Amino acid sequence: MQEIKVELTKHPKEKPQDQSKLGFGTIFTDHMFIMNYDKGQGWHDARIVPYGPLSLDPAAMCLHYGQEVFEGMKAYKAADGRVLLFRPDKNMARLNVSNERLCIPLIDEDFCVKAIEKLVSVDKDWIPTAEGTSLYIRPFIIGVDPHVGVHPASHLLFIVICSPVGAYYPEGLNPVRIYVEQNYVRAVRGGMGFTKTAGNYAASLKAQDEAEKQNYTQVLWLDGVERKYIEEVGTMNVFFVIDNEIITPSLQGSILSGITRMSSIELLRSWGYKVTERQLSIEEVAKAADEGRLNEAFGTGTAAVISPIGELKWGDKVMPINNGEIGPISQKLYDNLTGIQWGRLEDTHGWTVEVK
Ligand code: COI
Repeated sequence: MQEIKVELTKHPKEKPQDQSKLGFGTIFTDHMFIMNYDKGQGWHDARIVPYGPLSLDPAAMCLHYGQEVFEGMKAYKAADGRVLLFRPDKNMARLNVSNERLCIPLIDEDFCVKAIEKLVSVDKDWIPTAEGTSLYIRPFIIGVDPHVGVHPASHLLFIVICSPVGAYYPEGLNPVRIYVEQNYVRAVRGGMGFTKTAGNYAASLKAQDEAEKQNYTQVLWLDGVERKYIEEVGTMNVFFVIDNEIITPSLQGSILSGITRMSSIELLRSWGYKVTERQLSIEEVAKAADEGRLNEAFGTGTAAVISPIGELKWGDKVMPINNGEIGPISQKLYDNLTGIQWGRLEDTHGWTVEVK
């Protein structure tokens, strides 16, 4: 394994005073991890350095054709002082799935988990401790060759930055209002919908903007071909509780394979719930709502954690869900998942990794 050099900052920044006002993703810690890739040499020069601007050639490929992948993970400070990561191996495995699709050289997953542990350890005093807060970790890779031809890059940077955060949505654990997008599509099978790459989020901005103008938090995407089947919500996977079945769209190449999604399925099944991964049409959800069989809906994501959905709007049809309140399954999932992540509950699944 490569050695990781550490250069500590001589100018530590002031940490946020009021942890109740952190919001999401605007404050960054004192250090970042960087590693270079050069064709013929592989990934090299792993280092932790003071956080600061990058120097990029204006022709750097990532700026023109979006050869970029990223991940989202969190470090949590437990009440007993332990610093915990949640399934970091899954994030690095997914990063390599994205890498493969975007012609980015694969990373050494174990090494990158170690690098993230080391960065979090260097910046551990930045991990907030107030209820519901954590340190959001954003690993990303960009192609940096100065070349405006469309080709996979031969020179890349793997970077990790960290940000102390509160809830992603201003609603916190209060149910969000979601609007079913009918004009735009996010991804199609054969495209990049299953990867975490900037382009998927660029494709979502217009719809997101229009939803916000109508006072909705995010959009629910339908499949890009028939515009019929539910895919995912802006920054989260989605689950519907209809009768006694918990249904989430199956992974067919156009949606993200969420780690919170996977963990939620495992937890729900371990409690005896029937969880089905399958195609689910918006008509089926609307029919269940009309017949009083749509009991709950919620989103799952690293940033969003478990986010109950209190209202769904599809065209002119407005569907209130569980009277706009958090349902018992969403609440149980939230309590247990966050209990494991913050070290309040015993981690019987072996999902947490302690950062020393
Ligand atoms: C995450 O949940 O970590 C994400 O990457 C979503 C993000 C776009 C905020």
